[in-house]
Amino acid sequence: MSYISKRALDNLTPNKLHEIRSHCFHNQYDAQNNPDGIVALAVAENKLMREEIVSHINKNMNINPWHLTYGQGPQGDPALRKALASFVQEVFKPSTEITDSHICICNGAGSAVDNLSFCMGEPGDGILVGRPLYVGFFPDIEARAKIKPVLVPFGDVNPTSAAAVLAYEEAFHRSNAAGVTIRAILISSPHNPLGRPYSNEFLIGMLKLCSKLNIHLISDEVYAKSHFPSKDVPEPPPFVSVLSFPLERYIDPSLVHVIYAMSKDFCANGTRIDALISPFNVQLMRSFRAVASFTRASQLAEHSWLNLLTDKPFLETYFPLFQARMTNAYEFTTSFLREKNIPYNPASVTSFIWIDLSRYLREDSLDAELELNWRMAREGVWLAMGASFASERNGNFRLTFATPWEELKLGLERLMKVLNEVEQEINQQMHFRRY
Ligand SMILES: Cc1ncc(COP(=O)(O)O)c(C=O)c1O
Repeated sequence: MSYISKRALDNLTPNKLHEIRSHCFHNQYDAQNNPDGIVALAVAENKLMREEIVSHINKNMNINPWHLTYGQGPQGDPALRKALASFVQEVFKPSTEITDSHICICNGAGSAVDNLSFCMGEPGDGILVGRPLYVGFFPDIEARAKIKPVLVPFGDVNPTSAAAVLAYEEAFHRSNAAGVTIRAILISSPHNPLGRPYSNEFLIGMLKLCSKLNIHLISDEVYAKSHFPSKDVPEPPPFVSVLSFPLERYIDPSLVHVIYAMSKDFCANGTRIDALISPFNVQLMRSFRAVASFTRASQLAEHSWLNLLTDKPFLETYFPLFQARMTNAYEFTTSFLREKNIPYNPASVTSFIWIDLSRYLREDSLDAELELNWRMAREGVWLAMGASFASERNGNFRLTFATPWEELKLGLERLMKVLNEVEQEINQQMHFRRY
């Protein structure tokens, strides 16, 4: 047999959580092409403005021979970087001006985390991530760079509150004592999967902690524009980027790095384009660029994003409509959850809700959670199970509400059918136990 490296083989370790993912991924519902397929409410894919984005891309995709070249190298198209710098200036409100030279384009936020992990640590070093965490961070940190995602538990402490900072510090010292050198803290801000922003006190606490421990802070801010009002949170807190704080007051700014992408706010996961924004660390940016030739975004993706970012009249109508549709989808989903008495974490940002289905578990275990997830899949609906986010409790699921109405309705009906059946079975068992 031909030789395959240990580091590559390590990525193939069987994981029962992946089986359901690949089962559902390959048989997704489509009203025309696969009506019997599985409605995917598990993926953080905002599908509410796809028609508008598709039409904008098609109308403006007038490429020329330049787009067939390598362009100006791995940092990405200068025009796009300039447009993005001005978008960041407006939306992220950085305390220091962001320019095109502070930005490196690559093919997706996941690739940016991968490249940063590669640049920031040696194999076997660690990056701290709080539980529950965005599931993609596991491979992004580990698959190529071989850095360990070191999980931070919070117990009963709210992971987005200032009190959570201490848990990161404790995890840092535990790791060091176990011989794992921590190089960075990685946060998804706003929080995936909890669907809410961190408090300002938490973010400032993070800056101070990273300064004290002399480690990098990576803030993945891909949901910057994905906030929306609802009955649960009528006035969602505005998006706050770590770049908006007067960084030098809290930390050596060269330790702070932000990621933004087209995927979420522009409903375009498939275009594969994002940006690292690292204004104060020339050496890190050079190291990142040195590997970014492997993660270059296509010039066609760059062209699409550039066209969107520079079309001010379009953006002025796009974002209000985007947020209004999110409000509608969120209200529809949460009224269903309330009707069924399903506890959920009120969300004000992102495209999903973190819900609690623990009372539908056969027992308080990961296997029971997996069993419920398979049952949903067999009924034609796919939710993301809490265990894949390293949830500290069994029975949590993440449900993507930013789904077109008919698909969402069908998915929730299928979910309801499963939950009603499970409820009946549990009631019957209790009845038999009693007699
Ligand atoms: C917090 C976060 N970061 C990164 C990603 C991946 O983004 P991309 O598709 O741009 O790689 C996701 C996708 O769900 C995400 O939620």
